[in-house]
Amino acid sequence: MCGILGFSGKGPVRKIISRGLKALEYRGYDSCGYAFLSEGVVCVNKKTGKGGTDELVSEIPEYSDRRICVISHTRWATHGKVCLENAHPHRDCKNEIALVHNGIIENYARLKKELEQKGHIFSSDTDTEVIAHLFEEEAKKMPFRKAVLKSLNKLDGTFALLVLRKGCSEIIGARKGSPLFAGVKGKDFFISSDINSIVNYTDEIMFLEDGDMFAIGDEMEILDFVKKESVKRSFSRIKSGVQSTAMGNFESYMQKEIFEQPAALVSTFNSLCKELARYMEIVDTVPGRITIVGCGSSWHAGLIGEYMMEKLLRIPVEVEYASEFRYRNPVFLPDDLVVSISQSGETADTLGAVKEAKKKAKLLSICNVHNSSIPGESNYALYTQAGPEIGVASTKAFTAQIAALYFLNLLLALKMGLIKEYSLEKKIEEFSATAKKIRCIFSMLPDMEKIADKLKDKSNALFLGRGIHFPVALEGALKMKEVSYIHAEGYPAAEMKHGPIALIDENMPVVFISVRDRFSMKVISNMREVKARGGCIITVSDYIDDDILNISDEIINIPEAENEYLKPLLTVIPLQLLAYLTALKRDCDVDKPRNLAKCVTVE
Ligand code: G6P
Repeated sequence: MCGILGFSGKGPVRKIISRGLKALEYRGYDSCGYAFLSEGVVCVNKKTGKGGTDELVSEIPEYSDRRICVISHTRWATHGKVCLENAHPHRDCKNEIALVHNGIIENYARLKKELEQKGHIFSSDTDTEVIAHLFEEEAKKMPFRKAVLKSLNKLDGTFALLVLRKGCSEIIGARKGSPLFAGVKGKDFFISSDINSIVNYTDEIMFLEDGDMFAIGDEMEILDFVKKESVKRSFSRIKSGVQSTAMGNFESYMQKEIFEQPAALVSTFNSLCKELARYMEIVDTVPGRITIVGCGSSWHAGLIGEYMMEKLLRIPVEVEYASEFRYRNPVFLPDDLVVSISQSGETADTLGAVKEAKKKAKLLSICNVHNSSIPGESNYALYTQAGPEIGVASTKAFTAQIAALYFLNLLLALKMGLIKEYSLEKKIEEFSATAKKIRCIFSMLPDMEKIADKLKDKSNALFLGRGIHFPVALEGALKMKEVSYIHAEGYPAAEMKHGPIALIDENMPVVFISVRDRFSMKVISNMREVKARGGCIITVSDYIDDDILNISDEIINIPEAENEYLKPLLTVIPLQLLAYLTALKRDCDVDKPRNLAKCVTVE
């Protein structure tokens, strides 16, 4: 993962680096650091832990009359524990080279051994440090730029990297498999893993491509490091997409983003419906089979899509972990549609799955971030309008993905003649009405506080549901473990008998999703099985009857959605809130949970 940011220019460099690193923290926040060139010397400063970037950058000199080159990094540990030695920038033996890197160098162990045999001394456990020493070794025989070019071709794996070298007043960088964007404003250059960390300063952006190596001095020069020839690529003006990331009156981003869901959902669904005619044209054929790929919460959204689409469209749908799909040598059929789901549009495994499917199937992506890599690789994209999601645990982006899947379901149903265009108006009304009902669930917060009080001292929890609410149970369990660190498992309610039931006793809270549908009575039976073994039952239900009242220890009575496909939008909200409230009561950082990152750009 990791975020990298470079700046070459004059002006408020401390602010640029500090703000930029904060904007990149969603890629990792274990440690951060930077390097700059001063009087031809490479100066490095780094720290471990979250926050504190303002103090850290205070040592960067700010010149108004001359350019400064700075490279910086925020880390999500892959190789080696969180400590100063493993934080970036990494250096060579003579401290003349400083390098920041995002990605994984797969052949680093062999390269390290070779370099050690040549006398190089390593001071970290990272794969990254090997690059700095490789550059140093090659630069003994040739000019630095040439040494970088030669070395890049020896690296297996993925990288976006920036490097400074004593005596050279330029930033050299390269990308292969990890995103990197450049921005320009007059004579100032910005380079980053994410446009959002630089759009405050410029809207003239260049999308770097795999195989690009570049040098930024007074100008920016680009080279294809594989073909070893120069590349012409220009900056283009992007629509200024700076969206507010202020927390406002909320206490955390997670809280803010949970509360933003009614608006994010309506905005997503309406914006897609407005473009219905265009989508009817571009999705030109009805697929024979749909394969949905994604990771984490996006994979859960895919499972909800599967229930919707198989029921209404009667098209076979498979939902795959992107990481498994990409390496399974999957079989493609002539009318396949591969739907990728990704909030960030940069998740390495989902991107890998999309690349695997390219040219073998039509590709549609559901994504929250414009100009990101996954929609760029796809034939069409449905953008969710959740706005920037900062909290690491996905909330509003997840429900917005369900909205996009619901739209895709309706789009294909229209194409297949299963519903008529005039009924779309009704669907839009139903959708808005359901989204509004989320606000009623917010008003139940005081009751949920009491349930969170009970959960906060538990070590385990089970989340159970059937049908379309089984993936909701998975998502509820994921939220709970991500932010509260309580071990939680999601299961199909009936499957509980085949193992997890062994865990049930008075210390095991079991959250059931029990809605009015064809499974109601079956879920009640599963609840009885838990009750009989002393488990504590928390029921999320859109109806109340004697069974629910008698069996449940706690009830969260939510409103009924306008149709069965929209129910997950309501059943998941209490689960998000329970995870959030429980985490707060356990003094956990809900926005930046330990060990996690929002955008996983390594496999
Ligand atoms: C990480 C995040 C999750 C997210 C998953 C997939 O694990 O912490 O919240 O669901 O990546 O990310 P994507 O951006 O592809 O949806």
